[in-house]
Amino acid sequence: MKKLHLLLPVLIQLATAIQPSARDPLPNQQLRDLKWGQLNFLHTTDNHGWHAGHLQEPQYSADFGDYISFVKHMRRLADEKEADLVVVDTGDRAEGNGLWDASDPKGNYTRNFYHKLDIDVITNGNHELYNKTTAQNEFDEMIPYYNGKYVASHKLVTKNLGLKITSFGFLFNFTGNYNNTRVKAPSVVIKEDWFHEAISDKDVDLFMVIGHIDVEDHELSMVLAAIREINPDVPVQIFGGHSHLRKFVQYDDKSTALESGRYFETVGFLSIDGLATKAKKAAPKLNFFRRYIDANRVGYQHHTGTNEDTFDTPEGLEMSTELTKYRAELGLDRLIGCAPQDWSLNKDMYGSPNNWYTFLEETVLPKVVTNKDRHDIPRIIFINTGSQRFDVFKGPFTYDTSFLVSPFTSKFRFTPNVPWEYASQLREYFEDDSNPYFHTLGGPEREGPRPQALKSNSFRVNQRQQNVLVNGAPSTIVPGYTTCDDFGNDGDDTVHSRIIWHFAPKVIQGNASFPDGWETSPPEAVDVVFMDFIGWNVAAGLNEISGNDSYRAVDFQPYMGEEDTMTKLLLDYVEKEWRHDCV
Ligand SMILES: *[C@@H]1O[C@H](CO)[C@@H](O)[C@H](O)[C@H]1NC(C)=O
Ligand SMILES: *[C@@H]1O[C@H](CO)[C@@H](O)[C@H](O)[C@H]1NC(C)=O
Ligand SMILES: *[C@@H]1O[C@H](CO)[C@@H](O)[C@H](O)[C@H]1NC(C)=O
Ligand SMILES: *[C@@H]1O[C@H](CO)[C@@H](O)[C@H](O)[C@H]1NC(C)=O
Ligand SMILES: *[C@@H]1O[C@H](CO)[C@@H](O)[C@H](O)[C@H]1NC(C)=O
Ligand SMILES: *[C@@H]1O[C@H](CO)[C@@H](O)[C@H](O)[C@H]1NC(C)=O
Repeated sequence: MKKLHLLLPVLIQLATAIQPSARDPLPNQQLRDLKWGQLNFLHTTDNHGWHAGHLQEPQYSADFGDYISFVKHMRRLADEKEADLVVVDTGDRAEGNGLWDASDPKGNYTRNFYHKLDIDVITNGNHELYNKTTAQNEFDEMIPYYNGKYVASHKLVTKNLGLKITSFGFLFNFTGNYNNTRVKAPSVVIKEDWFHEAISDKDVDLFMVIGHIDVEDHELSMVLAAIREINPDVPVQIFGGHSHLRKFVQYDDKSTALESGRYFETVGFLSIDGLATKAKKAAPKLNFFRRYIDANRVGYQHHTGTNEDTFDTPEGLEMSTELTKYRAELGLDRLIGCAPQDWSLNKDMYGSPNNWYTFLEETVLPKVVTNKDRHDIPRIIFINTGSQRFDVFKGPFTYDTSFLVSPFTSKFRFTPNVPWEYASQLREYFEDDSNPYFHTLGGPEREGPRPQALKSNSFRVNQRQQNVLVNGAPSTIVPGYTTCDDFGNDGDDTVHSRIIWHFAPKVIQGNASFPDGWETSPPEAVDVVFMDFIGWNVAAGLNEISGNDSYRAVDFQPYMGEEDTMTKLLLDYVEKEWRHDCV
């Protein structure tokens, strides 16, 4: 049943297909339309398990059922326009949301319900490869199901215009994969015979590269260069991922790349016009168009000319219902405690009371990271900020929230008795270190917003913003993406006010069990405790600072039990310290 008409004392707009606790965005926002071409694409990437939508953020509240309905309408529109639509996903469907992480094995539901999406090409990201079981299941359940569409290389012919598209899948030069998988870097693949053969095929109208690679990364430029060497004139369309940002790059007049954000917040739309078809000669110049669609029902309806009565499809509604059921089976709405306030990772400045990292350093880490045999020994506790993935909102903190905020399974390790003069310099060492703390290290996690890129990219100010009339009323403007890319600052489908994004340090430090007055007369030595993910960096830092080569990551001992992941420690903290009646 789609629509509930209830008589209530106040008029509540009942969201239907989205999850029961989710809400539609504020009405009357100003939307920019899509411009269809001959060949059109929908792109998702880095969903990280958020397929039930954002339950606390109306702007991104559409779930996978809504997306299924959206895709269906877009396919219908393509047919009506005698155009073609290609639907793409570039990986990292895994990890970062209870819907994926709380199931056993992880991702069991997601892999199954993904099969219900009518998708044309799909590839994996690094997050499908960290965990042995996850990698194995991806291989067993996803690759055979999608057959050739799960790409290394695949040739498809579009339905309406008969365009011949050869697509390739790539992953960046990732080295943290479990040893039951092998990652071939783009620089290696482009020298292989099969690739050379595939790009030498002259019966191709367009090459499509889908990669779990930042579209500004040189690894994609290398792939493009390899294709261009043999095909100076064939259009090459690239879809990227991994940086979690909205990005669009034009490489040459026949090649562009789109990257569509993260966490099922964004559906990327791209169209190309001017291609040669059986019926038509190529236009003198190709026309590219891109749009970043906020993932909500209002936008989906706007772009498909549907409304609350006509948008939902049986398949979409069924999926939404299934998602509700899966979430219930996993107990994701189980209340753990009530967050007394909002905390953000980057919207509030590090050091301010609303900054989550500051709260962790000052309050949470000293309390939860303990070892009963060493409790009285002063310790400094380091976690990399990339281990924290999402803001905390005032109100219910559920089992699910713990995965949204801190999904990784890193454990705490330590090295005892480190002279204070070394230990106290570590933090500065991390900050100045060029080694990565976000990705490519072998371990659970590293990407996430890179402050530099955010500053210059997704959140650049849109200066020419003005309220216009929507449906005869001044438009509502809510904070959100104000992306600036190679085509300018009008790519977002919804006009937003800018969110100011603040830098966070690479690593944060909590201090515990220090005696009074330690700041003036510090202890001689302390325990240095850290997430195992940065163990290698801690060893390198201590060696550099001490000028002694004696610290080795393999010598570091567990500080807490194997079960004491940050996710669990956070759950324990919330359960114990916060109220259980949310108001
Ligand atoms: C890998 O995934 C399996 C199955 O989902 C899970 O039991 C296991 O704890 C995971 N391993 C790690 C290191 O997270
Ligand atoms: C995974 O999902 C499938 C299909 O939904 C189900 O039949 C199977 O029992 C699940 N596997 C496990 C180990 O729970
Ligand atoms: C991939 O990265 C690793 C580690 O950063 C490096 O040693 C290796 O040379 C790179 N390989 C390629 C083909 O780029
Ligand atoms: C893979 O890693 C595991 C440890 O996680 C090890 O026991 C196993 O021998 C390794 N396998 C190969 C083929 O290297
Ligand atoms: C921890 O101690 C260091 C001095 O080593 C200090 O700079 C930092 O502010 C302290 N952090 C907290 C959260 O107290
Ligand atoms: C170097 O490391 C060794 C072994 O841990 C230790 O005994 C020694 O005191 C260290 N020297 C310095 C200068 O820190």
